[in-house]
Amino acid sequence: MRPEAQPLTANMTTLFSRLWHGADYNYEQWLDAPGVHAEDFRLMNAAGCTAMSVGIFSWAKLEPADGEYDFGWLDRLMDSLAEHRVRAILATPSAAHPAWLSRKYPEVLRTHRDGRRGPHRGRQNFCRTSPVFRQKCLDINTRLAERYAAHPALLLWHVSNEYGGEACYCPSCLEDFRRWLWERYRTIDRLNDAYWATFWSHRYTDWEEIEPVDISMHGLMLDWQRYNSDQVIDFYRAEIAPLRELTPEIPITTNFMRPLVGLDYWKFAREVDIISWDSYPEWHIHDDADTAAMTGFYHDLHRGYKGGQPFYLIETSPSVTNWQALSRLKRPGLLKLASMQAIAHGSVGVNYFQWRQSRGGEEKFHGAVVAHRGADSSRVFGEVAEVGGLLGRFPELSAGRRTAEVAIYFDIENQWALDLARLPRNATGEYQQTCIQHYTQFWRRGIPVDIVGPGIPLEGYRLVIAPMLYMLTEPVAAQFAAYTAAGGTLATTYLTGLVDESDLVHRGGYPAPLGDVLGIALREMDTFGVHQSGTLAPVAGNSLGLHLHARLEHYAEIVAPTTAEVLAAYASEFYAGSPALTGNVYGQGRAYHLAARPDEAFLDHFYQKLAASLAIRPVLSSPIPHGVSVQAREAGSARFLFLMNFSDSPHSLTLDAAWQDALTGAPAPSACQLEPWGLRILRMEK
Ligand code: GAL
Repeated sequence: MRPEAQPLTANMTTLFSRLWHGADYNYEQWLDAPGVHAEDFRLMNAAGCTAMSVGIFSWAKLEPADGEYDFGWLDRLMDSLAEHRVRAILATPSAAHPAWLSRKYPEVLRTHRDGRRGPHRGRQNFCRTSPVFRQKCLDINTRLAERYAAHPALLLWHVSNEYGGEACYCPSCLEDFRRWLWERYRTIDRLNDAYWATFWSHRYTDWEEIEPVDISMHGLMLDWQRYNSDQVIDFYRAEIAPLRELTPEIPITTNFMRPLVGLDYWKFAREVDIISWDSYPEWHIHDDADTAAMTGFYHDLHRGYKGGQPFYLIETSPSVTNWQALSRLKRPGLLKLASMQAIAHGSVGVNYFQWRQSRGGEEKFHGAVVAHRGADSSRVFGEVAEVGGLLGRFPELSAGRRTAEVAIYFDIENQWALDLARLPRNATGEYQQTCIQHYTQFWRRGIPVDIVGPGIPLEGYRLVIAPMLYMLTEPVAAQFAAYTAAGGTLATTYLTGLVDESDLVHRGGYPAPLGDVLGIALREMDTFGVHQSGTLAPVAGNSLGLHLHARLEHYAEIVAPTTAEVLAAYASEFYAGSPALTGNVYGQGRAYHLAARPDEAFLDHFYQKLAASLAIRPVLSSPIPHGVSVQAREAGSARFLFLMNFSDSPHSLTLDAAWQDALTGAPAPSACQLEPWGLRILRMEK
């Protein structure tokens, strides 16, 4: 199912040898505060911290003036960490550069779309093609690598912080973009053709005419997004060059975020040794079951980027944030629950932002392990220490894998294309939400899901779901066809296969490259307004045994089956009676198409029937109450089962096999009680 894991270097083996626990530690903010550092190290040991992220925003302290470095404080920090048996996740400082650097070399600052150079402010405000900025990063990263290469505390490089795809419009970036376009198209006419540039007389005669500001040119804007993502990856490559050269044994990561920041993480993943990501769910604001399912999706996505390799939850708040519209206190138990959720989905550890609340600046009221008033008797610190204790109990889980029979295909380029597209219904951001909605149907049932994307093999999955795959390239369509022909089951939805990688409509009618696989042809597409909906009714005797009627919203495609069976038909509108859900036999497999967006109840019903028809097994066969998640992770000879209650009501689960309590080793009762926000970890020898 998955590409074979690469042999691990010794340091990667260390990374996968225990579950890590720690936080972003801004030691440099407390250099003049007597006693604070000593207190920090005492508390780190008390909280079971094993890996701290350090130096992330410390450039101004490391290089107080151009070419003048001060590593004294970092030496002391690294030595103290080693003394206290805590490892360092050492950052390169590019995310926030000193004011003197912007003043001396103004070209390092990013230029806005209107051509004005931005001010020095905030962070991540630099131009990524600036030769001076690259050189300054190279200088400081080289010094860091030389100095700490053999330091016993050094565990992992943390490169920069949360790169995003924000664009810079300076002459150097625009020139680099035109070079990128030239490499892709080679002739201006090929580019014109790819952009369908005769439309509105947009044909270019020279590369210099191209400016990435024209949102009416979807192909161009898509390329601009691709370019900015590639530019970030290129900048990252430049940043890590000295690290790779001087510390080839030290693994490298950079903290990813949810895929909303303009980066193609599927591509980026190839460049890092371990995926790490920052997760800030909005607990206790929406239905926590939905928040937990969404968080599960993102954990699985980050595990998916490197084909199933465990990832690192490298930032999450131990209590509140201060940048979301509203952030509520985590209810007692929630921190442990959310932490173990990450572990259940494949994390090698849990780290927080932040260790100690700062006295000033933008994040002084952001939650921390050590709050302004101190730590010793605080509820949050107590819960953090409990998490630390728990993580210390299961070192074998760090390398533990998960297995899934269901995959959801998620392609960020499709999201960009859909958000740019002008359709009869225009709503941005729906693609990701829809993938999460489909994912949630399995999450609720305790059926593990992998998130897959471009380049990830599909063999071995019983079911692959590709929602709203508007931009469907020929190679991906061919991969889906081969997967289905060989016996796999594919499920697609409305808005599938309209355009190719240039955002040009496929010839031959949609879903052209998958028409034969799905056995349908799309005739027209209807849409519904906010208070409008349609209805769907299963066809009597349909092969999945569907019997529920559905309310439809957003989209309703009118499709004509060529070879597909009609499983459900529209029951409203002028197209009543025409197919709304089809299933087609293709080779040894089957391909389903949901031509409209059904309500949750029908989606749940459809996937329940489909999973049953494919004999897809949940990790627990007895019913799972609303708000409870059951996940499994394999580790060596053992299988771990995580029962997690993301609700404020107690629940009971019936175990279908003889499990042991993973903490006590005692046999688990077959009726397993879960407190509100409660957690149980079970274990079984395979
Ligand atoms: C992250 C960022 C941290 C901190 C945190 C606050 O996105 O990497 O530096 O700002 O948010 O929640």
